Amino acid sequence: HVTYNVAVLPGDGIGPDVVSAALRVLGAAGEAYGLRFAFSHLAFGGAAIDACGHPFPDEVRAAVAGADAVLLGAVGGPKWDALPRERRCETGLLNLRKHLGVYSNLRPVRVFEGLEGLSPLKSEVARGTDLLIVRELTGGIYFGKPSFNTPTEGVSTDRYTRGEVERIARVAFEAARTRSGRVTSVDKANVLDVSQFWRDVVVGVHESSYPDVTLDHLYVDNAAMQLVRDPRQFDVIVTANLFGDILSDLAAVIPGSLGLLPSASLGDGPGLFEPVHGSAPDLAGKGVANPVGTILSAAMMLRHSLDQGEAASAIEAAVQTALEEDPTTDLGGSRGTEAFTEAVLKALPTPVRS
Ligand code: NAD
Ligand code: IPM
Ligand code: MN
Repeated sequence: HVTYNVAVLPGDGIGPDVVSAALRVLGAAGEAYGLRFAFSHLAFGGAAIDACGHPFPDEVRAAVAGADAVLLGAVGGPKWDALPRERRCETGLLNLRKHLGVYSNLRPVRVFEGLEGLSPLKSEVARGTDLLIVRELTGGIYFGKPSFNTPTEGVSTDRYTRGEVERIARVAFEAARTRSGRVTSVDKANVLDVSQFWRDVVVGVHESSYPDVTLDHLYVDNAAMQLVRDPRQFDVIVTANLFGDILSDLAAVIPGSLGLLPSASLGDGPGLFEPVHGSAPDLAGKGVANPVGTILSAAMMLRHSLDQGEAASAIEAAVQTALEEDPTTDLGGSRGTEAFTEAVLKALPTPVRS
């Protein structure tokens, strides 16, 4: 029996609540499918600042690099917002992503059949939504130099190299081949040189290697509008770091809550799995955080990093069942984090004894 080594970074705010829910679900799925996990818990973000003065300690650097996968809750909060940028929680997270080289951030947005009523959009608009945002995660304006802030000016630089755009375009085209065969590249090529470059490189990858996939292009402002007007028109959306960040929070409205969305961040080493939402300081300590985004991130970890697709599908089905019974309060249901997690555990298959 192999044991999967998972580095666990609960982080701040609701991070520890949703991570502990996901670990319980992983443990139960492990029992059902005969999988063993070794979880090493590490302080990261604000919790690490409080413990040792730095959001991304060296010990975490080493542990994540040697793990099979990394599960993260969320970082940040008002307590640490006034720190200089290099010591901020969010900078620690960006450095973690860079350290792991996870340039490809997959953010699926799916409206489960029968659960379109949880959407604030009309049911007939939300129904059947099944799209994948492929967000470039280790480049663009998040990392471009120069970047500084003085009393007289603030500067950030948006920049992509050919290699960075080619590899994320390939991820999107490959994903489309396993889905509905359509990629929409989102940019601002009518204004930004970096976006015109992005578009030209995506077109080049398409023409040379993926003529079987349908490619179209949207400006990001129109894409934001199209996402809420008619989300079913999309299959795979590929876009730069900042646009992907913004569009994924927007897209969370379609299934009904930011608390529902999972993500997988992949590169050549260990994958990083985290919900799309943040530390939600307004909900911290209240026991009401929706754990679905993190539970589904754990399912993505099983599928993408540990090659356990069957266990991943079982978790997804159990989440759907629990949502059908009675969702969390952010979705108009009555369950808190704990009660909802219990419902997911109940809906999982029981261990097969031999
Ligand atoms: P947020 O995602 O934490 O919260 C936005 C809104 O969504 C809030 O109303 C919150 O209550 C709600 N929400 C978020 N997650 C939820 C859940 N699981 N269940 C129910 N409701 C949920 O974004 P914010 O308020 O802009 O940022 C708060 C802090 O989190 C900031 O410090 C920010 O930098 C940080 N952040 C971290 C991450 C991350 O660690 N990956 C992501 C985003 C924001
Ligand atoms: C996300 C978050 C992060 C991002 C922040 C906290 C650095 O918003 O994961 O979506 O912008 O990537
Ligand atoms: Mn975000």
